[in-house]
Amino acid sequence: MNYRLIILLSLLFFASPHLNAQSYQDPQHHACLKCHSNQSYSFHNDVTDKEVKRLMNPYYILDTVAISAGVHKSFDCTDCHSSEYEVYPHQATLKLEPLSTCLDCHGGDESYAKYKFEEIQAEVEKSVHHKVYGENFSCSKCHNQHTYAATARNSDNILEIVDYSNKMCLSCHNDMKKYELISGHANPKLVEVHNWLPNQALHFQHVRCIECHTEVVDSLMVSHNILSKDHAVKKCVECHSADSRLKASLYKYENIQKRAENGGLGSVLTNSSYVIGTHQSPFLKLLSIIIFLATITGIIIHSIFRILKK
Ligand code: HEC
Ligand code: HEC
Ligand code: HEC
Ligand code: HEC
Ligand code: HEC
Ligand code: HEC
Ligand code: HEC
Repeated sequence: MNYRLIILLSLLFFASPHLNAQSYQDPQHHACLKCHSNQSYSFHNDVTDKEVKRLMNPYYILDTVAISAGVHKSFDCTDCHSSEYEVYPHQATLKLEPLSTCLDCHGGDESYAKYKFEEIQAEVEKSVHHKVYGENFSCSKCHNQHTYAATARNSDNILEIVDYSNKMCLSCHNDMKKYELISGHANPKLVEVHNWLPNQALHFQHVRCIECHTEVVDSLMVSHNILSKDHAVKKCVECHSADSRLKASLYKYENIQKRAENGGLGSVLTNSSYVIGTHQSPFLKLLSIIIFLATITGIIIHSIFRILKK
């Protein structure tokens, strides 16, 4: 075979996983995203023979940046959706198309064994959401298949992990329309529900909702059994103690522990007497050193004068 052809083919082979990602970054030229990443879309009306411009349903606008960072970034839209969507207006019957669930693709697949999809599903089936809404509360209610990224497993930044996780819950619990769509009634105001917790904003930045609302399961990276509210953690010592439950949940991640070995968070994890929320203040530390040095100097000067007097 011609060696130039071989080079071209191998270049294409290596570049192909990036081709879609490329087009996500250039949404205006993507067959679907030119409409589905914008506030408005236009199409040619064959009946009136005119160009029409309309507003896009805000819930159908996709975040291309988040897609490119997600686990399914190498997918084309029509890998999951019917290729008939390439035509606009979309056919009405496409609304009836069943879409694959996480388990349809990942269940029983050895290459994803470390995520324990089956065990996660079993836990989800025990959770409050599933008890009330059954199958209707699918994995996709929390995990957007377009943008999902396994953050807790891959990030080494606790604040980022907490933010990513909490946004999933808040996307519904703080969104009146989404919450009502499922429950048929208004959402309880989270700030009022949690007003027994001091420094609420600080807590919600440093701990995930699931820290207090799930049962910790050692075999899973992320516990999925959301318990009813009367089983939620309310006792401060559950976290603010040497034996904090956070060690078995938020802080257990291998990558974070690895980082801990190189210092940084090390003191939190390895020092069993570390108590969360008792950070040393640099100012107080400096002040205590100054007082200590001043006392020593005082004693020395005092002794010198006593010796001289004698
Ligand atoms: C010309 C603009 C345009 C293009 C191109 C377009 N769509 Fe759409 N799409 C829309 C609009 C507008 C809606 C809202 C419902 C409607 O008007 O049919 C929609 C709705 C949808 C829905 C939701 C259907 C429902 O009601 O549940 C899906 C899924 C979808 N599009 C996928 C795609 C995919 C995949 C592609 C590319 C292969 C694509 N669309 C290309 C404009 C477009
Ligand atoms: C990994 C599979 C997958 C891929 C890839 C995918 N989708 Fe989807 N999409 C889904 C699922 C599942 C839903 C239904 C979500 C739900 O349960 O409400 C959906 C829903 C939608 C909707 C309806 C609005 C919504 O969020 O519910 C639109 C519009 C849409 N997809 C467009 C697209 C476009 C455009 C692309 C390509 C950029 C794309 N999808 C790629 C799985 C996928
Ligand atoms: C249509 C099939 C399909 C569906 C539905 C689907 N996935 Fe995937 N998923 C894949 C494929 C294929 C890959 C590998 C993509 C790659 O390597 O670029 C993947 C990758 C992943 C990864 C990264 C795996 C790794 O370590 O490489 C995670 C995590 C994941 N998916 C979670 C989910 C979750 C959670 C859902 C449901 C919300 C879901 N997937 C739905 C097919 C699917
Ligand atoms: C009530 C919300 C919720 C539901 C429902 C839910 N999850 Fe999750 N899931 C989460 C949160 C929060 C995380 C942590 C996010 C992250 O990966 O950083 C997570 C993480 C994951 C992970 C990554 C775990 C790891 O080991 O890295 C997988 C895989 C997953 N979920 C699969 C599923 C599947 C499959 C379902 C449906 C059977 C499901 N989830 C239903 C909230 C949910
Ligand atoms: C420090 C532990 C803690 C954290 C963190 C926490 N919660 Fe709670 N939550 C509780 C407790 C305890 C209750 C029960 C309060 C009561 O009944 O007085 C509760 C109640 C709730 C309720 C029930 C509301 C009702 O009355 O019907 C919801 C919903 C809820 N929390 C969601 C969340 C979400 C979403 C997050 C993350 C943004 C979160 N929680 C973070 C401890 C916590
Ligand atoms: C798609 C919407 C949605 C998402 C996402 C969601 N929830 Fe909920 N959640 C609900 C609805 C609706 C209820 C009310 C259930 C009922 O009627 O009893 C609820 C109830 C609860 C309750 C209270 C149960 C009780 O005893 O009254 C807690 C706690 C809770 N959710 C925590 C969470 C956490 C933590 C997350 C994120 C990991 C989350 N939810 C994600 C919709 C959602
Ligand atoms: C789910 C675990 C958890 C629970 C339950 C919890 N906290 Fe916290 N708390 C934290 C974390 C994590 C921080 C911030 C991290 C740090 O500063 O080390 C924090 C910070 C604080 C701070 C600020 C300390 C500082 O360093 O500025 C106070 C005060 C506090 N918590 C009091 C309480 C009280 C009172 C309760 C019980 C009503 C409570 N917490 C319950 C995890 C928890």
